[in-house]
Amino acid sequence: MDILFQLLFSPLPTPAIISLLALAAATLFYLNTRPSPIRSPVDLNCQSLGIKDGARKTALLEDNNNLISYYYNDAKTLYEVFQRGLKVSGNGPCLGYRKPGRPYQWLKYRQVSDRAEHLGSGLIHKGLKPGPDTFIGIFAQNRPEWIICELACYTYSMVAVPLYDTLGPEALVFIIDQASISTVLCDNQSKAETLLQNREKGLTPVLKTVVIMDPFKSELVERGTQCGVDILSMQDVEVLGKNNLQNPAPPKPEDLSIVCFTSGTTGNPKGAMLTHENVVANAAGVLKGFETAIVPSTQDVSISFLPLAHMFERVVQTVMYSVGARVGFFQGDIRLLPDDMKTLQPTIFPVVPRLLNRVYDRVQSGAKTPFKKWLLNFAVDRKYAEVREGIIRNNSIWDKLIFHKVQESLGGRVRVMVTGAAPISPSVLNFLRAALGCQLFEAYGQTECTAGCSFSIPGDATSGHVGVPLPCNIVKLVDVEEMKYFSSNGEGEVCIKGSNVFKGYLKDPEKTAEALDKDGWLHTGDIGKWLPSGVLKIIDRKKNIFKLAQGEYIAPEKIENVYVRSGPVAQVFVHGDSLQSCLVAIVVPDPDVLPDFAKDLGCQGSIEELCKNTEIKKAVLSDMTKLGKEAGLKSFEQVKDIHLHPELFSIENGLLTPTLKAKRAELKTLFQTQIDKLYANIK
Ligand SMILES: *[C@@H]1O[C@H](CO)[C@@H](O)[C@H](O)[C@H]1NC(C)=O
Ligand SMILES: *[C@@H]1O[C@H](CO)[C@@H](O)[C@H](O)[C@H]1NC(C)=O
Repeated sequence: MDILFQLLFSPLPTPAIISLLALAAATLFYLNTRPSPIRSPVDLNCQSLGIKDGARKTALLEDNNNLISYYYNDAKTLYEVFQRGLKVSGNGPCLGYRKPGRPYQWLKYRQVSDRAEHLGSGLIHKGLKPGPDTFIGIFAQNRPEWIICELACYTYSMVAVPLYDTLGPEALVFIIDQASISTVLCDNQSKAETLLQNREKGLTPVLKTVVIMDPFKSELVERGTQCGVDILSMQDVEVLGKNNLQNPAPPKPEDLSIVCFTSGTTGNPKGAMLTHENVVANAAGVLKGFETAIVPSTQDVSISFLPLAHMFERVVQTVMYSVGARVGFFQGDIRLLPDDMKTLQPTIFPVVPRLLNRVYDRVQSGAKTPFKKWLLNFAVDRKYAEVREGIIRNNSIWDKLIFHKVQESLGGRVRVMVTGAAPISPSVLNFLRAALGCQLFEAYGQTECTAGCSFSIPGDATSGHVGVPLPCNIVKLVDVEEMKYFSSNGEGEVCIKGSNVFKGYLKDPEKTAEALDKDGWLHTGDIGKWLPSGVLKIIDRKKNIFKLAQGEYIAPEKIENVYVRSGPVAQVFVHGDSLQSCLVAIVVPDPDVLPDFAKDLGCQGSIEELCKNTEIKKAVLSDMTKLGKEAGLKSFEQVKDIHLHPELFSIENGLLTPTLKAKRAELKTLFQTQIDKLYANIK
């Protein structure tokens, strides 16, 4: 085998060796033992069933079966989920953590459950009221204490509210006020300082107590006192609670468990209210889907590095605890993830497409010569042919020769991967299904349905779709007339109903009404299509579309995507509304291109000066219009006038979301004067 390996990874061999090699490989391939194929729980050609109102449910649920809201009878809340894990694991290892270069250390289920009781008791002793009206902020990176804090909330029916940096400083203030958070549990001193700074500016008057997990400087306590905030160490609160123990006051399934704030493209973050039932149901849906192919057990380990503030990671962990499995935390630095993976050797690996793309690129770039490229493709084809038959393995000749390295880089024991949070390219997914030798599922959803509403079925090796509705929800597609998607063609806006669908946004009836209709359907804004096998494919996004005064529909993003290809244009915001009969735009010129562009017109000056120059403006507009014509924009889709603005839209100035989408409402408000002027000049 070693000689083979050397041959493969040495400079281009002669054709004779190639044929020899292929022959040898093929022989070994057939000699190798093949495991039996995965038994698919449903007919893969008929994965979902039509029910009333044009909705569909997973074929996993027989005709008269209702949607599920839990998987285990004794685990209907997140509190019970954890207690079940404690029981079935026989107080096994639960939460793992490590210092740089050291092995993992484990907290056992009982330790975690006891510490949660102590922490909760300590907080109650300090004056918090147990029950679902008490909201507690958790402001920390993924680590065991995060779970202890969360469980402390659940043990006394209180509600956890994750806080995180990427929402921005204003969002932090908004959330603390909106959820009336009097107590925040933070990981370290710098987070506590952020909270105190706000308090010192007179903001977040509701905040009374900050508990810190790591050691901190004693001056911080004094600084807190100055602005009326009690600074405590988590350890002290636990000791206090141990000495003043309160009986657990566990929640009911319909009680709130978590309020998960997400940033939209407009306005303040929205706090999705999720009950215990919501989260348990979503995890149950996943477990039900796994049933025939992978039954997670106490032997399973997952690695926690995706933010716990997002529900995807929370649902994965709910699955783990409900079966008494283990969760190991990364060290907190994404660059050290490979080392953590090798040390932890996880069996269950939740991922996002960005990470899978990196794995894919690494394997591809490892094959440097044409021969190695050919061999890699050959091996992928062979393995993928097996995957299509439902055979998932990591012990074929191709694994030993080629894929063993990438499998080892993930720790060598991964048997299940789930990708979610964003679409993944079908070719990457197929490639990795072959190369990684584990089951790789794709999930789709959003926070408002807890995390997932659809999931691929075990044994389905096809890609380019997001699977079928989970057994906890049904899905229907609703007409979007202005975009010409009709449910009669099996296309439309994805709408979800089920036990995982949220209760609305905290104290925001208006946005709740936009998301949830009166019949309880969650409108996602994504456009889906049913494929012949009954799986769902996401094909578009319901655009921000409006009508001009003369009745023509406008999709501004489409137009912006055309105009940004113009050389002098860096960013563009197209505006119009039903009171106007034409479009205008705010254009941010590209600072690298604009000076030369101006010079050709005989103009000079700073970017600010150039932006005020009408001749330049005319030239930019005419370039945009030319491009628009080439791209087939209709005349009413072309902007009639523009305003040049010298400063880029950014996350920092609040005009882009963290995912770099334009915040249209903010842009409109900020540029209202310019927009009015543009229209005044056109008339
Ligand atoms: C506090 O924790 C964050 C991660 O949550 C980390 O980036 C930061 O460096 C830490 N600060 C200190 C002072 O330890
Ligand atoms: C192959 O997969 C099995 C589980 O499916 C695992 O136990 C084993 O460690 C894996 N081996 C490698 C080399 O990845």
